[in-house]
Amino acid sequence: MPVPNALGVPCTAQRLRFVRSEQELMEALSCWRDALVVGQCSNLVLPKRLERPLLVAAWRGLRLVREGADALLTVAAGESWHALVRYSLGQGLGGLENLALIPGSVGAAPIQNIGAYGVELSERLIQVRVFDRRRGRVRRLAPSECGFGYRTSLFKAQPDLYVVLGLTLRVGPCNPLVLDYPDVGRELAKAGRAAPTPRQVAEAVIRIRRRKLPDPKRWGNVGSFFKNPIVSQRTADRLGRRQPGLVAHSALGGVKLAAAQLIDLCGWKGRRLGRVGVWRRQPLVLVNLGGGEADDFLALAQRIQASVMRRFAVRLELEPTPVQDGPAA
Ligand code: EPU
Repeated sequence: MPVPNALGVPCTAQRLRFVRSEQELMEALSCWRDALVVGQCSNLVLPKRLERPLLVAAWRGLRLVREGADALLTVAAGESWHALVRYSLGQGLGGLENLALIPGSVGAAPIQNIGAYGVELSERLIQVRVFDRRRGRVRRLAPSECGFGYRTSLFKAQPDLYVVLGLTLRVGPCNPLVLDYPDVGRELAKAGRAAPTPRQVAEAVIRIRRRKLPDPKRWGNVGSFFKNPIVSQRTADRLGRRQPGLVAHSALGGVKLAAAQLIDLCGWKGRRLGRVGVWRRQPLVLVNLGGGEADDFLALAQRIQASVMRRFAVRLELEPTPVQDGPAA
């Protein structure tokens, strides 16, 4: 069966099942022990053929519990992330506005700890409900137990440990607006919003994303194909002396450089390699130009990594997860 995925690469799974309840998940996992559990495949690079059984997390549900002016939102893995952001804003509850329009499902959000415009999912999370595959039981994990970091988590590092069942988030005025990201500030100023509401911030973010990022329905893509590299202060100083205008921000563990800028400086913007290419308005994004397969993307990514390594001696890490097929148990 063909597996739909944001990158738009061909992938056929020998066994695939849409799982519509937690009960169904547990039953499916008891016969397909080594199954790969996915959401909307919005951050995966899938191989042409998958021997491993595939379960698509499609269980739904959403509960809102008011707590004074704030609220706890408990939401199932199979819901769409952006629909959740819209729902929360529709209830007058802010906190998720900077994360508007990120493709994918709620269950996928903690896997790479989605982040945009100065906010990361982990900052809004209260708990993650998971199914512990080894012990066969449901657990509730506090954010501090999830190994969250920049575009990473325990779920990404050890993908076969847990299945994410759902999340609880805190939304409402307890979350201050985060407006310090230059693009967001500029967009709000352009719209004449000096004191924006969360909904207006979401509208600004949506406009920026639509302008910069290709629509995955038209051009297969998984957003950023590389993480922004974090280097030591010494490396950043050395590069900054050689490269005037180098973008560098202090981050946990060192200095974060802009991978988009490094790729741009290596001349990759808008270039094509066979059936795949580098998006002209945001070179961190690789796009399917028609008929591209996982190997095409990985080959282009390797060429870009090699250029950046040669010119700057900086290693770019992949951001999406390439799925390797294993033999079925
Ligand atoms: N830049 C260039 N040339 C370009 C484009 C950008 O030099 O052609 C430079 C700009 O100067 C800019 C810098 O690169 O200062 C950073 O660009 P941008 O603000 O577009 O953000 P990013 O660091 O490239 C990250 C996330 C995005 C997220 C945006 C906004 C990662 C890997 N990517 O991109 O996340 O939307 O910031 O917060 O952290 C994703 O993860 O899939 C994703 C799209």
